[in-house]
Amino acid sequence: MDGRRILTIFGTRPEAIKLFPLIHLLDRDDRFESCVCVSAQHRGMLDQVLDIAGIEPHHDLDLMTDGQSLDELTARALTGIGRVLDREKPDWVVVQGDTTTVLAGALAAYYRKIAVCHVEAGLRSGDIYQPWPEEVNRRTVGTFAKLHCAPTQTSADALLRENIAPASVHVTGNTVIDALKWVTQQIDDRPELAAGLSDLEQRFAAKRIIGVTSHRRENFGEGMQGIAKAIRRLASRGDVAFIFPVHLNPNVRAVMNAELEGLDNVALIEPLDYPHFAKLLDISHIMLTDSGGVQEEAPALGKPVLVMRETTERPEGVAAGTARLVGTDAETIVRETERLLDDPAAYAAMARAHNPFGDGNSAQRICDLLAHAS
Ligand code: UD1
Ligand code: UDP
Repeated sequence: MDGRRILTIFGTRPEAIKLFPLIHLLDRDDRFESCVCVSAQHRGMLDQVLDIAGIEPHHDLDLMTDGQSLDELTARALTGIGRVLDREKPDWVVVQGDTTTVLAGALAAYYRKIAVCHVEAGLRSGDIYQPWPEEVNRRTVGTFAKLHCAPTQTSADALLRENIAPASVHVTGNTVIDALKWVTQQIDDRPELAAGLSDLEQRFAAKRIIGVTSHRRENFGEGMQGIAKAIRRLASRGDVAFIFPVHLNPNVRAVMNAELEGLDNVALIEPLDYPHFAKLLDISHIMLTDSGGVQEEAPALGKPVLVMRETTERPEGVAAGTARLVGTDAETIVRETERLLDDPAAYAAMARAHNPFGDGNSAQRICDLLAHAS
């Protein structure tokens, strides 16, 4: 008997990172026939992950355009993915997270009455504009997914509060921990995979490194300005240096280049591939971020993370004490960062490894659910 036909659909860097561990397992499990479709909502940043994970998609819609709008991208993703579904006729579609590709992929499957497995289900901030549009994307997929793979009990509880059938909700952990473990092992085996930061490490040898990422749409404009101003002010201290792989979104790059280019102890660099980003997490004293994934990776590594957002749908890092919400006001970011830099007790209280997001075996749990779900 042929295995279940699983079509995994994704389009951006974080989806690729969180789905490659599952694709690796699906590919070598006789219970499945695995097929991969990328929307390529991201191009360069997606390809970095496909390369390192050794994934060659069966379908690549190559959708990304410069400065793409939400409505145009959604429309093109919906029709493009629809055509792939008509051709592949999978038993299940797997999507991960909350991007436009996730919404469009799941919706195209629903229109064909194909079962949807939602990985990283149940994250809720309670505010439809933070993160925007992700909160509504994941709520929408939650209304019709057949299998909800919640990373934590908190996210499972959120789904149950929305009257989703309890038998369809499973706590699997977050596959980002599987990905982080995999990449850490790769670096241990082949250190050259992450050797590209050694020049910066030498240049900043006497300083404490602060790693930064930022890209949220709701932070465009004032929020991004606040983040940039905070970094500029903190960089006037002699004892810190910033390594900031700048997201390729032109709305991010324009602000960061204008505010931060040319500062001695700020390295604005191109997006890092995953091994190099794991290395950056490792060498950083503190992370400043508005990213979702980094809020999950940093606690696993015991790195204090200041979250430059007003709210988070990942409260587990805050509850564990490794993450703190600081918003995008420059004053607050500076104050909270200086507190960690200058108060060893405050730093030590946050710098403890916790694993609220899983044990690294989430992808296997999801595989088993996919094999047995009716
Ligand atoms: C998208 C997701 C967001 C996710 C983030 C991860 C939506 C609405 N947003 O945000 O949920 O957290 O990815 O990074 O789904 N670009 C490039 N090369 C790339 C990637 C992006 O040039 O490899 C530029 C393009 O000009 C593109 C723009 O960035 O139009 C925005 O990309 P888009 O995917 O729409 O939004 P992100 O801000 O990346
Ligand atoms: N990441 C990376 N290179 C970078 C910045 C981030 O590989 O230069 C990884 C990071 O480890 C995390 C993911 O990308 O797993 C986060 O992606 P992003 O911040 O783009 O999206 P979000 O998680 O906010 O949706």
